[in-house]
Amino acid sequence: MTARPFPLGVLASGRGSNLQAILDEIASGRLAAAVKVVVCDVADAFALDRARRAGVPAVFVDPRGPGGKAAYEQRITEVLREHGVELVVLAGYMRVCGPTLLAAFPGRIFNIHPSLLPAFPGLHVQRQALEHGARFSGCTVHFVDAGVDTGPIVAQAVVPVLDTDTEDSLAARILRQEHRVYPHAIRLFAEGRLRLEGRRVVVDAPAPGADDLALVQPPLPS
Ligand code: GRF
Repeated sequence: MTARPFPLGVLASGRGSNLQAILDEIASGRLAAAVKVVVCDVADAFALDRARRAGVPAVFVDPRGPGGKAAYEQRITEVLREHGVELVVLAGYMRVCGPTLLAAFPGRIFNIHPSLLPAFPGLHVQRQALEHGARFSGCTVHFVDAGVDTGPIVAQAVVPVLDTDTEDSLAARILRQEHRVYPHAIRLFAEGRLRLEGRRVVVDAPAPGADDLALVQPPLPS
């Protein structure tokens, strides 16, 4: 018996490259999920085009509609529920989730952020990492809570920060890892392999060999 594809709803505001990575992973058969709907708060977001091209319902929900933020999030919630969504995936969604959305999908909202949280939450994170002189940066998939980039951490990927980096070159290096890590984290959730202990996310079967994993930057002599 084939398991039913796990139903995802993606919220995005812009170019949607993470959405594309998730769609590609599903199309390749490596992620047993289905993007049931893509919702954007920006009418001409490229993420909507990507959704349509993949045959996925693409819905613009106007944040300036009547009733303020709660009503806006209620409209989003209705769209997600209509499509049977069981995990909400924020992928470049440029708004903070309010109580309406959080209450509708408790423990069922993921976000990806282009830094190694808890370092550098918020905006302009590559600039923050460069200005701070961090030797490593990366990306973090986390559960969404009421704060900004504060929820329990599911998965991270680490990349070096090079002396020659600009914000753009660092962002591009991190983005390549986002596209690998986000589908992986979604797979762990869809397979029921994540468990919350306080604010720690426990994965049922940790990767073998992880005990000796270390990155050093600048590199150690070989
Ligand atoms: C990514 O860097 C993500 O980490 C951040 O917003 C960006 C979205 O990029 N939250 P895209 O729209 O998925 O291409």
